[in-house]
Amino acid sequence: MSRVNPNYLQLKSYLFTGIAQKVAAHRNAHPDQKIISLGIGDVTHPFIPAVVSALHKAVDENASLAGFHGYGPSCGYPFLREAIAQEYARLGVTVSSDEIFVSDGAKSDVGNIQELFSPDAVIAVTNPTYTVYIDSNVMAGRAGEALPDGRFSSIVYLPCTRENGFVPDFPERATDLVYLCYPNNPTGTALTREQLAGWVDWAIRNRSIILFDAAYEAFITDKDVPHSIYEIEGAREVAIEFRSYSKTAGFTGLRCGCTVIPKELTAAGPDGAPVPLNPLWNRRQCTKYNGCPYIVQRAAEASHSPEGRRQIAEALSLYHGNAAGILAAAREIGLDAFGGINSPYVWLSTPPKMSSWAFFELLLEKCALICTPGVGFGSCGEGFVRISAFGTRENNLEAISRLKQI
Ligand code: MLT
Repeated sequence: MSRVNPNYLQLKSYLFTGIAQKVAAHRNAHPDQKIISLGIGDVTHPFIPAVVSALHKAVDENASLAGFHGYGPSCGYPFLREAIAQEYARLGVTVSSDEIFVSDGAKSDVGNIQELFSPDAVIAVTNPTYTVYIDSNVMAGRAGEALPDGRFSSIVYLPCTRENGFVPDFPERATDLVYLCYPNNPTGTALTREQLAGWVDWAIRNRSIILFDAAYEAFITDKDVPHSIYEIEGAREVAIEFRSYSKTAGFTGLRCGCTVIPKELTAAGPDGAPVPLNPLWNRRQCTKYNGCPYIVQRAAEASHSPEGRRQIAEALSLYHGNAAGILAAAREIGLDAFGGINSPYVWLSTPPKMSSWAFFELLLEKCALICTPGVGFGSCGEGFVRISAFGTRENNLEAISRLKQI
Protein backbone atom coordinates (compact mmCIF):
# COMPACT_ATOMS: atom_id res chain seq x y z
CA MET A 1 0.00 0.00 0.00
CA SER A 2 1.34 3.43 -0.82
CA ARG A 3 2.27 5.46 2.23
CA VAL A 4 1.28 9.01 2.99
CA ASN A 5 3.79 11.78 3.72
CA PRO A 6 3.68 11.50 7.54
CA ASN A 7 4.55 15.17 7.94
CA TYR A 8 1.08 16.13 6.73
CA LEU A 9 -0.40 14.25 9.67
CA GLN A 10 1.23 16.75 12.04
CA LEU A 11 -0.81 19.62 10.61
CA LYS A 12 -3.82 21.09 12.36
CA SER A 13 -6.63 22.50 10.22
CA TYR A 14 -5.71 25.70 8.35
CA LEU A 15 -6.61 28.68 10.54
CA PHE A 16 -8.96 30.40 8.11
CA THR A 17 -10.67 27.13 7.13
CA GLY A 18 -11.40 26.41 10.80
CA ILE A 19 -12.85 29.89 11.25
CA ALA A 20 -14.95 29.58 8.08
CA GLN A 21 -16.45 26.36 9.46
CA LYS A 22 -17.41 28.03 12.76
CA VAL A 23 -18.92 30.97 10.87
CA ALA A 24 -20.88 28.63 8.56
CA ALA A 25 -22.37 26.89 11.62
CA HIS A 26 -23.33 30.28 13.09
CA ARG A 27 -24.88 31.36 9.78
CA ASN A 28 -26.97 28.17 9.68
CA ALA A 29 -28.23 28.83 13.16
CA HIS A 30 -28.96 32.54 12.46
CA PRO A 31 -29.84 32.74 8.76
CA ASP A 32 -31.29 36.28 9.05
CA GLN A 33 -28.34 37.85 10.78
CA LYS A 34 -26.02 40.17 8.85
CA ILE A 35 -22.56 38.85 9.70
CA ILE A 36 -19.69 41.26 9.12
CA SER A 37 -16.22 39.86 8.48
CA LEU A 38 -13.25 41.56 10.06
CA GLY A 39 -11.47 38.22 9.81
CA ILE A 40 -9.44 36.99 6.85
CA GLY A 41 -7.59 39.82 5.13
CA ASP A 42 -9.72 39.78 2.00
CA VAL A 43 -10.17 43.08 0.18
CA THR A 44 -13.56 44.52 -0.78
CA HIS A 45 -12.66 47.52 -2.94
CA PRO A 46 -13.45 46.68 -6.59
CA PHE A 47 -10.70 46.74 -9.22
CA ILE A 48 -9.42 50.24 -9.90
CA PRO A 49 -10.28 51.63 -13.38
CA ALA A 50 -6.68 51.23 -14.62
CA VAL A 51 -6.82 47.50 -13.84
CA VAL A 52 -10.29 47.09 -15.36
CA SER A 53 -9.28 48.63 -18.69
CA ALA A 54 -6.02 46.62 -18.82
CA LEU A 55 -8.00 43.41 -18.23
CA HIS A 56 -10.49 44.26 -21.01
CA LYS A 57 -7.72 45.19 -23.38
CA ALA A 58 -5.76 41.99 -22.70
CA VAL A 59 -8.87 39.83 -23.18
CA ASP A 60 -9.61 41.54 -26.51
CA GLU A 61 -6.01 41.08 -27.63
CA ASN A 62 -6.33 37.36 -27.02
CA ALA A 63 -9.43 37.22 -29.20
CA SER A 64 -7.29 37.65 -32.29
CA LEU A 65 -4.83 35.24 -33.84
CA ALA A 66 -2.07 37.83 -33.70
CA GLY A 67 -2.74 38.81 -30.08
CA PHE A 68 -3.32 35.35 -28.61
CA HIS A 69 -1.04 34.26 -25.75
CA GLY A 70 -0.58 30.63 -24.76
CA TYR A 71 2.07 29.52 -22.28
CA GLY A 72 3.95 32.53 -20.99
CA PRO A 73 7.43 32.64 -19.49
CA SER A 74 7.40 30.78 -16.14
CA CYS A 75 9.04 33.68 -14.38
CA GLY A 76 6.89 36.46 -15.83
CA TYR A 77 6.59 38.56 -18.96
CA PRO A 78 9.40 41.09 -19.39
CA PHE A 79 6.90 44.00 -19.37
CA LEU A 80 5.81 43.22 -15.80
CA ARG A 81 9.27 42.34 -14.50
CA GLU A 82 10.44 45.68 -15.87
CA ALA A 83 7.50 47.58 -14.30
CA ILE A 84 8.36 46.02 -10.93
CA ALA A 85 12.04 46.92 -11.35
CA GLN A 86 10.89 50.53 -11.98
CA GLU A 87 8.82 50.42 -8.79
CA TYR A 88 12.00 49.46 -6.90
CA ALA A 89 13.86 52.28 -8.67
CA ARG A 90 11.29 54.72 -7.24
CA LEU A 91 12.44 53.55 -3.78
CA GLY A 92 16.04 54.20 -4.79
CA VAL A 93 16.71 50.47 -4.94
CA THR A 94 18.37 48.65 -7.83
CA VAL A 95 16.72 45.32 -8.63
CA SER A 96 17.13 44.00 -12.16
CA SER A 97 14.21 42.42 -13.98
CA ASP A 98 15.87 38.99 -14.06
CA GLU A 99 15.98 39.03 -10.26
CA ILE A 100 12.17 39.31 -10.21
CA PHE A 101 10.03 36.17 -10.49
CA VAL A 102 6.35 36.85 -11.15
CA SER A 103 3.95 34.34 -9.64
CA ASP A 104 0.33 33.69 -8.74
CA GLY A 105 0.80 35.44 -5.40
CA ALA A 106 3.05 35.74 -2.40
CA LYS A 107 1.32 32.90 -0.55
CA SER A 108 2.52 30.25 -3.01
CA ASP A 109 6.02 31.69 -3.04
CA VAL A 110 6.45 31.94 0.73
CA GLY A 111 5.16 28.38 0.97
CA ASN A 112 7.37 27.02 -1.81
CA ILE A 113 10.62 28.87 -1.17
CA GLN A 114 11.69 26.44 1.56
CA GLU A 115 12.27 23.82 -1.18
CA LEU A 116 15.54 25.59 -2.01
CA PHE A 117 17.01 24.80 1.39
CA SER A 118 18.36 21.66 2.95
CA PRO A 119 15.92 19.35 4.74
CA ASP A 120 17.71 20.00 8.03
CA ALA A 121 17.80 23.80 7.71
CA VAL A 122 16.81 25.46 10.97
CA ILE A 123 14.13 28.10 10.59
CA ALA A 124 13.08 30.94 12.85
CA VAL A 125 9.64 32.53 12.82
CA THR A 126 8.06 35.26 14.87
CA ASN A 127 5.40 34.20 17.37
CA PRO A 128 2.67 35.09 16.35
CA THR A 129 3.23 34.58 12.64
CA TYR A 130 1.54 33.99 9.28
CA THR A 131 0.93 30.26 9.56
CA VAL A 132 2.04 29.39 6.02
CA TYR A 133 5.71 29.84 7.02
CA ILE A 134 5.37 27.11 9.62
CA ASP A 135 2.99 24.76 7.80
CA SER A 136 5.14 24.63 4.66
CA ASN A 137 8.15 23.61 6.74
CA VAL A 138 6.07 21.04 8.62
CA MET A 139 5.05 19.52 5.26
CA ALA A 140 8.72 19.38 4.29
CA GLY A 141 9.62 17.54 7.50
CA ARG A 142 11.75 20.36 8.87
CA ALA A 143 9.71 21.27 11.94
CA GLY A 144 10.33 18.33 14.30
CA GLU A 145 7.69 17.11 16.72
CA ALA A 146 4.41 18.90 17.43
CA LEU A 147 4.41 20.17 21.03
CA PRO A 148 1.27 20.34 23.23
CA ASP A 149 1.07 24.15 22.92
CA GLY A 150 0.96 23.95 19.12
CA ARG A 151 4.62 24.81 18.56
CA PHE A 152 7.15 22.50 16.85
CA SER A 153 10.32 21.20 18.47
CA SER A 154 12.79 22.13 15.70
CA ILE A 155 11.47 25.60 14.92
CA VAL A 156 12.97 28.62 16.66
CA TYR A 157 10.23 30.99 17.80
CA LEU A 158 10.80 34.71 18.31
CA PRO A 159 8.20 36.06 20.74
CA CYS A 160 6.50 39.31 19.72
CA THR A 161 4.75 40.63 22.78
CA ARG A 162 3.27 43.80 24.16
CA GLU A 163 6.48 44.12 26.24
CA ASN A 164 8.84 44.19 23.24
CA GLY A 165 6.44 46.27 21.14
CA PHE A 166 5.93 43.21 18.89
CA VAL A 167 9.50 43.58 17.60
CA PRO A 168 11.30 40.25 17.96
CA ASP A 169 14.72 39.84 19.55
CA PHE A 170 17.34 38.10 17.42
CA PRO A 171 17.42 34.29 17.77
CA GLU A 172 19.68 33.09 20.58
CA ARG A 173 21.43 30.78 18.13
CA ALA A 174 22.14 31.23 14.45
CA THR A 175 19.36 29.86 12.28
CA ASP A 176 19.66 29.13 8.56
CA LEU A 177 16.51 31.03 7.72
CA VAL A 178 14.35 33.60 9.39
CA TYR A 179 10.90 34.62 8.15
CA LEU A 180 10.05 38.26 8.75
CA CYS A 181 6.79 39.87 7.64
CA TYR A 182 6.76 43.65 7.97
CA PRO A 183 4.42 45.48 8.16
CA ASN A 184 3.45 42.53 10.22
CA ASN A 185 0.68 40.06 9.77
CA PRO A 186 -0.93 39.66 12.30
CA THR A 187 0.16 42.38 14.78
CA GLY A 188 0.00 45.27 12.30
CA THR A 189 3.28 46.67 13.62
CA ALA A 190 6.18 47.83 11.44
CA LEU A 191 9.99 47.84 11.67
CA THR A 192 11.86 51.12 11.47
CA ARG A 193 14.83 51.48 9.16
CA GLU A 194 17.17 51.05 12.12
CA GLN A 195 15.39 47.91 13.35
CA LEU A 196 15.42 46.33 9.90
CA ALA A 197 19.09 47.28 9.48
CA GLY A 198 19.72 45.40 12.75
CA TRP A 199 18.21 42.26 11.18
CA VAL A 200 20.27 42.57 8.01
CA ASP A 201 23.40 43.00 10.11
CA TRP A 202 22.42 39.96 12.21
CA ALA A 203 21.90 37.87 9.05
CA ILE A 204 25.26 38.92 7.62
CA ARG A 205 27.08 38.07 10.87
CA ASN A 206 25.32 34.71 11.22
CA ARG A 207 25.37 33.76 7.54
CA SER A 208 21.63 33.44 7.69
CA ILE A 209 18.99 34.26 5.06
CA ILE A 210 16.00 36.50 5.73
CA LEU A 211 12.77 35.58 3.92
CA PHE A 212 11.14 38.99 3.92
CA ASP A 213 7.41 39.10 3.29
CA ALA A 214 6.56 42.65 2.16
CA ALA A 215 2.94 41.89 1.20
CA TYR A 216 1.69 44.88 3.21
CA GLU A 217 4.32 47.46 2.24
CA ALA A 218 1.79 49.65 0.40
CA PHE A 219 0.14 50.45 3.74
CA ILE A 220 3.24 52.12 5.17
CA THR A 221 2.64 55.72 6.15
CA ASP A 222 5.70 56.46 8.37
CA LYS A 223 8.69 57.86 6.53
CA ASP A 224 11.04 55.91 8.78
CA VAL A 225 9.63 52.52 7.76
CA PRO A 226 11.30 50.97 4.69
CA HIS A 227 9.09 49.62 1.90
CA SER A 228 11.67 47.05 0.88
CA ILE A 229 14.40 45.23 2.73
CA TYR A 230 16.72 46.17 -0.14
CA GLU A 231 16.58 49.78 1.07
CA ILE A 232 19.00 48.49 3.73
CA GLU A 233 22.65 48.24 2.75
CA GLY A 234 23.89 44.67 2.53
CA ALA A 235 20.39 43.15 2.21
CA ARG A 236 21.01 41.91 -1.33
CA GLU A 237 23.47 39.34 0.06
CA VAL A 238 21.11 37.99 2.73
CA ALA A 239 17.47 38.52 1.77
CA ILE A 240 14.72 37.21 -0.48
CA GLU A 241 11.71 39.52 -0.74
CA PHE A 242 8.09 38.62 -1.51
CA ARG A 243 5.60 41.16 -2.84
CA SER A 244 1.91 40.91 -3.56
CA TYR A 245 -0.80 42.64 -5.56
CA SER A 246 -3.52 41.11 -3.37
CA LYS A 247 -3.97 43.73 -0.71
CA THR A 248 -2.56 46.56 -2.80
CA ALA A 249 -4.39 46.29 -6.12
CA GLY A 250 -7.28 44.11 -4.95
CA PHE A 251 -5.91 40.90 -6.51
CA THR A 252 -6.92 38.41 -3.78
CA GLY A 253 -9.13 36.72 -6.39
CA LEU A 254 -7.06 37.53 -9.47
CA ARG A 255 -3.71 36.28 -8.05
CA CYS A 256 -0.37 37.87 -8.80
CA GLY A 257 2.77 38.53 -6.80
CA CYS A 258 6.50 38.28 -7.13
CA THR A 259 9.65 37.08 -5.44
CA VAL A 260 12.96 38.87 -5.68
CA ILE A 261 16.16 36.85 -5.46
CA PRO A 262 19.26 39.00 -5.94
CA LYS A 263 22.07 37.42 -7.90
CA GLU A 264 24.51 37.89 -5.01
CA LEU A 265 22.41 35.71 -2.70
CA THR A 266 23.94 32.29 -2.06
CA ALA A 267 23.58 29.30 0.23
CA ALA A 268 26.21 26.65 0.92
CA GLY A 269 26.37 23.64 -1.40
CA PRO A 270 27.30 20.14 -0.15
CA ASP A 271 31.01 21.01 -0.29
CA GLY A 272 30.44 24.34 1.46
CA ALA A 273 30.96 26.33 -1.73
CA PRO A 274 28.39 29.12 -2.28
CA VAL A 275 25.54 28.27 -4.65
CA PRO A 276 23.51 31.19 -6.13
CA LEU A 277 19.81 30.86 -5.36
CA ASN A 278 18.46 32.91 -8.27
CA PRO A 279 19.12 30.21 -10.93
CA LEU A 280 17.83 27.50 -8.59
CA TRP A 281 14.48 29.26 -8.12
CA ASN A 282 14.32 29.82 -11.87
CA ARG A 283 14.88 26.08 -12.32
CA ARG A 284 12.20 25.24 -9.78
CA GLN A 285 9.63 27.55 -11.33
CA CYS A 286 10.30 26.24 -14.85
CA THR A 287 9.51 22.72 -13.67
CA LYS A 288 6.60 23.36 -11.36
CA TYR A 289 4.90 26.48 -12.66
CA ASN A 290 3.63 27.62 -16.06
CA GLY A 291 3.44 31.30 -15.23
CA CYS A 292 0.84 33.82 -14.17
CA PRO A 293 -1.76 34.42 -16.93
CA TYR A 294 -0.91 37.13 -19.49
CA ILE A 295 -4.20 38.90 -18.78
CA VAL A 296 -3.43 39.09 -15.07
CA GLN A 297 0.11 40.30 -15.66
CA ARG A 298 -1.21 43.11 -17.90
CA ALA A 299 -3.57 44.09 -15.08
CA ALA A 300 -0.69 44.04 -12.60
CA GLU A 301 1.37 46.18 -14.96
CA ALA A 302 -1.45 48.76 -15.09
CA SER A 303 -1.34 49.07 -11.29
CA HIS A 304 2.20 50.51 -11.65
CA SER A 305 1.14 53.23 -14.12
CA PRO A 306 0.79 56.81 -12.79
CA GLU A 307 -3.02 56.62 -12.84
CA GLY A 308 -2.90 53.10 -11.37
CA ARG A 309 -0.74 54.29 -8.48
CA ARG A 310 -3.03 57.27 -7.85
CA GLN A 311 -6.16 55.09 -7.91
CA ILE A 312 -4.57 52.55 -5.57
CA ALA A 313 -3.62 55.29 -3.11
CA GLU A 314 -7.29 56.34 -3.03
CA ALA A 315 -8.45 52.77 -2.43
CA LEU A 316 -5.91 52.22 0.33
CA SER A 317 -6.89 55.46 2.06
CA LEU A 318 -10.32 53.93 2.56
CA TYR A 319 -8.77 50.96 4.40
CA HIS A 320 -6.54 53.30 6.41
CA GLY A 321 -9.66 55.23 7.45
CA ASN A 322 -11.33 51.97 8.47
CA ALA A 323 -8.32 51.01 10.58
CA ALA A 324 -8.28 54.41 12.28
CA GLY A 325 -11.98 54.01 13.14
CA ILE A 326 -11.39 50.55 14.62
CA LEU A 327 -8.39 51.74 16.65
CA ALA A 328 -10.37 54.66 18.09
CA ALA A 329 -13.43 52.52 18.90
CA ALA A 330 -11.34 49.83 20.57
CA ARG A 331 -9.63 52.38 22.79
CA GLU A 332 -12.97 54.00 23.60
CA ILE A 333 -14.29 50.70 24.98
CA GLY A 334 -11.10 50.20 27.00
CA LEU A 335 -9.25 47.62 24.93
CA ASP A 336 -5.58 48.05 24.06
CA ALA A 337 -5.12 48.25 20.31
CA PHE A 338 -1.92 48.14 18.25
CA GLY A 339 -0.97 48.36 14.58
CA GLY A 340 -3.47 49.83 12.12
CA ILE A 341 -1.21 52.72 11.08
CA ASN A 342 1.28 51.18 8.67
CA SER A 343 -0.98 48.21 8.21
CA PRO A 344 -4.56 47.14 7.49
CA TYR A 345 -4.58 45.03 10.67
CA VAL A 346 -5.40 46.10 14.20
CA TRP A 347 -4.13 43.85 16.99
CA LEU A 348 -6.64 44.05 19.78
CA SER A 349 -6.18 42.82 23.33
CA THR A 350 -9.07 40.74 24.60
CA PRO A 351 -10.95 41.82 27.75
CA PRO A 352 -9.18 40.75 30.99
CA LYS A 353 -9.02 36.97 31.52
CA MET A 354 -10.71 36.25 28.20
CA SER A 355 -8.93 33.98 25.72
CA SER A 356 -8.63 34.78 22.02
CA TRP A 357 -11.18 32.11 21.08
CA ALA A 358 -13.60 33.15 23.84
CA PHE A 359 -13.53 36.73 22.54
CA PHE A 360 -13.96 35.45 18.98
CA GLU A 361 -17.08 33.54 20.11
CA LEU A 362 -18.37 36.57 22.02
CA LEU A 363 -18.00 38.88 19.02
CA LEU A 364 -19.69 36.32 16.78
CA GLU A 365 -22.56 35.56 19.17
CA LYS A 366 -23.28 39.05 20.45
CA CYS A 367 -22.28 41.28 17.52
CA ALA A 368 -22.24 38.96 14.47
CA LEU A 369 -18.66 40.10 13.87
CA ILE A 370 -15.89 37.80 12.66
CA CYS A 371 -12.35 38.45 13.83
CA THR A 372 -9.26 36.22 13.82
CA PRO A 373 -8.21 34.79 17.19
CA GLY A 374 -4.62 35.84 17.87
CA VAL A 375 -3.67 32.44 19.26
CA GLY A 376 -4.34 30.99 15.80
CA PHE A 377 -1.14 32.74 14.72
CA GLY A 378 0.90 31.29 17.58
CA SER A 379 0.99 30.94 21.35
CA CYS A 380 2.12 34.57 21.88
CA GLY A 381 -1.06 35.67 20.12
CA GLU A 382 -3.14 34.40 23.06
CA GLY A 383 -5.06 37.27 24.63
CA PHE A 384 -5.37 39.11 21.31
CA VAL A 385 -7.56 39.08 18.23
CA ARG A 386 -6.73 40.47 14.81
CA ILE A 387 -9.21 42.87 13.21
CA SER A 388 -8.98 43.49 9.48
CA ALA A 389 -9.73 46.92 8.01
CA PHE A 390 -10.47 45.51 4.55
CA GLY A 391 -14.27 45.80 4.84
CA THR A 392 -16.42 48.29 3.01
CA ARG A 393 -16.78 51.67 4.77
CA GLU A 394 -20.44 50.95 5.45
CA ASN A 395 -19.71 47.58 7.08
CA ASN A 396 -16.77 48.98 8.98
CA LEU A 397 -18.94 51.71 10.50
CA GLU A 398 -21.59 49.20 11.42
CA ALA A 399 -18.96 46.89 12.94
CA ILE A 400 -17.65 49.77 15.03
CA SER A 401 -21.08 50.63 16.35
CA ARG A 402 -21.69 46.96 17.25
CA LEU A 403 -18.27 46.80 18.94
CA LYS A 404 -19.10 49.82 21.07
CA GLN A 405 -22.19 48.05 22.37
CA ILE A 406 -20.43 45.09 23.97
C1 MLT B 1 -4.67 36.85 6.21
O1 MLT B 1 -5.82 37.15 6.51
O2 MLT B 1 -3.79 36.60 7.04
C2 MLT B 1 -4.35 36.78 4.78
O3 MLT B 1 -5.38 37.28 4.01
C3 MLT B 1 -4.09 35.41 4.37
C4 MLT B 1 -3.38 35.38 3.06
O4 MLT B 1 -2.92 36.41 2.57
O5 MLT B 1 -3.25 34.29 2.57
